[in-house]
Amino acid sequence: ASAPAWRAVDAFFTHALVGEDEALVAARESGARTTMPNAEVAANQGALLGLLIGIAGARRMLEFGTLAGYSTIWCARAVGAQGHVTTLELAPQNAHVALENLERAGVADRVEVRIGPAAESAQRLIEEGAEPYDLVFIDADKPGNPAYLAAALCLTGPGAVIVIDNVVRDGAVVDAASEDPRVQGVRQVVQDIAEHPELEATALQTVGVKGWDGLLIARRR
Ligand code: DHB
Ligand code: MG
Repeated sequence: ASAPAWRAVDAFFTHALVGEDEALVAARESGARTTMPNAEVAANQGALLGLLIGIAGARRMLEFGTLAGYSTIWCARAVGAQGHVTTLELAPQNAHVALENLERAGVADRVEVRIGPAAESAQRLIEEGAEPYDLVFIDADKPGNPAYLAAALCLTGPGAVIVIDNVVRDGAVVDAASEDPRVQGVRQVVQDIAEHPELEATALQTVGVKGWDGLLIARRR
């Protein structure tokens, strides 16, 4: 099947099942004002994150890579008014766009955006003795994936769910000899998860509006 057909199927399911309100549409469109236009998750992927939070009964969620806060809004709504989201963003420009979007979506009171390199922000959370998170979404720079997983393991307990975005990238993930540090960041984190005795995981390829990519979903026993 072709890319147009994949997009049409995404549009069909998204129109039928996945309501994006004005705040989510505005957050998506504001991606143009970030350092990485069009890198936010698709609507059906945002909805998947929300469903996973609901299925897991997650109340505390940690996100690596805020960008414009599009996925953050899905997650903040899913954790509910008593829940909390901590989201880590390198670029102040993106964080400021995200804060506007979180305000518009009515969830700013349950989200903390920490600006700076995500590995440093996560280390600070560890040092502060942050309460364990129930679900972690890793969607920042891809070379950082192994460090973000390690931090996530310090910030979660049994039953926690860890989701990683962009683990396929047009199939490049299978190229062991790749000199792309993003590909190696994905390959290394897959190996780390495979070798971790407390993690069970799978990964799914996705097609559609974001092209050919995929999500890894892990659970801590
Ligand atoms: C890139 C990163 C993302 O998180 C994404 O969803 C799409 C692209 C990137 O680094 O190119
Ligand atoms: Mg991504």
